[in-house]
Amino acid sequence: MPYPITRLRRMRRNETLRRMVRETHLRADDLIMPLFVRPGAGVRNPIASMPGQFQWSVDTLVEEARAVADAGVPAIILFGIPEHKDAAGSEAYADAAVVCRAIEAVKKARPELCVITDVCLCEYTDHGHCGVIAKNRDGAPDVANDATLELLAKEALAHARAGADLVAPSDMMDGRVTAIRDALDDNGFQDVPIMAYSAKFASVFYGPFRDAAESPPQFGDRRSYQMDPPNLEEAMREIEEDIDEGADIVMVKPALAYLDVIRRAADEFPMPIAAYSVSGEYAMIEAAAANGWIERERAIREVLLAIRRAGAKLILTYWAKEAANWLK
Ligand code: PBG
Repeated sequence: MPYPITRLRRMRRNETLRRMVRETHLRADDLIMPLFVRPGAGVRNPIASMPGQFQWSVDTLVEEARAVADAGVPAIILFGIPEHKDAAGSEAYADAAVVCRAIEAVKKARPELCVITDVCLCEYTDHGHCGVIAKNRDGAPDVANDATLELLAKEALAHARAGADLVAPSDMMDGRVTAIRDALDDNGFQDVPIMAYSAKFASVFYGPFRDAAESPPQFGDRRSYQMDPPNLEEAMREIEEDIDEGADIVMVKPALAYLDVIRRAADEFPMPIAAYSVSGEYAMIEAAAANGWIERERAIREVLLAIRRAGAKLILTYWAKEAANWLK
């Protein structure tokens, strides 16, 4: 036989054929838009390391949330930046917290928009860690797991009371899903789902976010609670643990450098898998595009599609609004 019988190129000859056999699709319904809210009015602070992203106040956030919803994005995830930070992160679980006011305002403006909240202490603590600090057995400061659980549960409850549709713990303490589930259930919020940041790695790609949320750790780093990047098996244990504790959606974070983790999670767990395309992934493409080194829109589409192809149902991405507008 002089020529190959199978010619895979036959089905690549024009856009119609390519569309017909396309295996993976990106839809606006797959996207979740992260937004940062801080006290004040009329605020629209550009985030230097994340060009195109802003810190909002409640009033401007509502306008942005409307634009996100109009683009067809079904959900936002809110990060709060408090008025004052303290050792216990007390604004995280205050009913008067800026995130709570933001939830109420957004739900009033666009009731159909799913409002998710990030449940963590690092934006609220003066030391910038995701929990409260106690001395460990060597006398060194360490994030105290069990004391933190109580505060996370209070925070999730405050968000649910304000009207959050879904809560998303990102702290990586052991047992937080149980603690949050119990607190929600005991207070009549048994229908509020939990999206757990389950396989959250100690990644350098969160760098720009810490500018955005003003939350860099003031000493040490997050390696005693976030996962060690080389570990895939352990990621499966983290995910399984969160599912056992009642998580409704499990997340892998970051996305781009952890596509294998997403794929394995999608193969192993019959659950909606979310992936967080984090601030550093955003900054890399934005910086390359701003320099004219990469075609911006094509790069974004390729990356988001890759995350879907790896097996993520949902993608948290700073490009959510823009990508949804392209997909219209
Ligand atoms: C809070 C939190 C972080 C991110 C989401 N929730 C920062 C961190 O853990 O350091 C990172 C998001 C991003 O980089 O886009 N714990």
